[in-house]
Amino acid sequence: KVLILDFGSQYTQLIARRIRELNVYSEIVPFNKVPELDESYRAVILSGSPFSVKEERALRPDLDALIGKVPVLGICYGAQYIADYYGGTVSRSLKREYGKANLGRVRRSDGLFESIETGSQVWMSHGDTIQHLPEGFELLASTADVEVAAFGSDNGRFEAPVYCIQFHPEVYHTLDGGQLLRNFVMNIAGCTGDWTPAHFIEQTVEDLRERVGEERVLLGLSGGVDSSVAAMLLHRAIGDRLFCFFIDNGLLRKGEFEEVERSYEGMGLNVTAIDAKQEFYSALAGESDPELKRKAIGRVFIEVFEREAKKLANIKYLAQGTIYPDVIESVSVHGPSVTIKSHHNVGGLPEKMGLKIVEPLRNLFKDEVRRVGTELGMPAHLIGRHPFPGPGLAIRILGDITPAKVHLLQEADAIYINKMREYGLYDQVWQAGTILLPVQSVGVMGDERTYEQAVALRAVTSTDGMTAEWSHLPYDFLAAVSSAIINNVKGINRVVYDISTKPPATIEWE
Ligand code: XMP
Repeated sequence: KVLILDFGSQYTQLIARRIRELNVYSEIVPFNKVPELDESYRAVILSGSPFSVKEERALRPDLDALIGKVPVLGICYGAQYIADYYGGTVSRSLKREYGKANLGRVRRSDGLFESIETGSQVWMSHGDTIQHLPEGFELLASTADVEVAAFGSDNGRFEAPVYCIQFHPEVYHTLDGGQLLRNFVMNIAGCTGDWTPAHFIEQTVEDLRERVGEERVLLGLSGGVDSSVAAMLLHRAIGDRLFCFFIDNGLLRKGEFEEVERSYEGMGLNVTAIDAKQEFYSALAGESDPELKRKAIGRVFIEVFEREAKKLANIKYLAQGTIYPDVIESVSVHGPSVTIKSHHNVGGLPEKMGLKIVEPLRNLFKDEVRRVGTELGMPAHLIGRHPFPGPGLAIRILGDITPAKVHLLQEADAIYINKMREYGLYDQVWQAGTILLPVQSVGVMGDERTYEQAVALRAVTSTDGMTAEWSHLPYDFLAAVSSAIINNVKGINRVVYDISTKPPATIEWE
């Protein structure tokens, strides 16, 4: 596997994904939490950073613990830090070098640049420049503006090669970036590329069997991809000793509970469907504060879950569909502080009930979860489903929740999503949904004046939900959705389209 040291670059996760696309496992750790390098680590990559090595507060881990042990690749800040650490000179450049450039003077016989032609386009984004190389390092490539675009030491100063590049191979605009990473990871570091979905499944099933033994496991299905794939893996490992709950909170999309329940049965899962609609509606009645709505839903979820779990004897483990982006510790620009976001949909339940946690997907990115799901033979419509928030339609109905409002939104949303599939747009957007606005406006239908509610349509493209861009959906599609909703859903006479990006807006309205 490949270890990636994170210095806080916005691209660190992208490096990990690029490596994994080569079917090589990679993991990200904060720059100051380097694990013991046992033989499972074949290479180390140092990420870029918002910091400058010239700053007082620059991040300066001990490189002697890494360099010489396994092949190392420093990217941007990583490269500057290596240069600085071993006695080279780094200075602030007068202007920030940002954007496309072309590589020149590639040392022909070099392993890192194998199959990459002189002139290849790369992406630069840095404020520091390396002026003099440290001893034992050699220049490998330059661009018109940057003399030291790539350098390395593969001739004996260290026991293992060290490569440093000023540009970002992980971003799309570095056209041969994939080839460069392949050269480093496969040819130089000797990784084999056997980390495939099939291999992951085999390994995980084996681990789960060993870990869980003869015990019983409980898992809460949400209808989403992550919990479903986690359930399938556990089912493969321990069969009917996996017990699944699927709670109907009355806040799902139209017909979704029944539809997903049928899919689960088709997949052979042992699922208890729990109708808790009324409990959720009662807890939400009259509440319009977004945070209090979320809290009420979380509380009822735990109550229902706990009550039902008590009916099952001898449960020892609680399984969750937590994925990698939820557990990566990120390095923040505001002091090297550490934030961890964990998906605890079941709150403090594990502690309260004395359950141990199993998270079979905690090392996977979302797209990898989908690939694993496909390999497990899960139905395509479950795997390709858009993300859907735990609190469901409650955070898409602004203001207080009533069953009538839920019904109104479900009808409008079903039209939107079905049309999206009909137009072949569903798989092109990352997430889409309809929001019921607490606004009434005047309209005219036939000869009648109407005074009814408005809905907003939301569709975004994103890779992880952290940032998002509004989708540029075709006007004729939006027109068709708008008239279908207004003509068919009594109570709605106006449709608007949300054109806000995240940040500064968020994907959901509450
Ligand atoms: P925001 O609105 O924060 O949403 O831009 C980012 C992504 O997270 C989803 N989301 C949630 N998912 N429980 C969840 O499981 C929640 O409370 C929750 N709130 C937002 C949202 O749908 C989007 O995909």
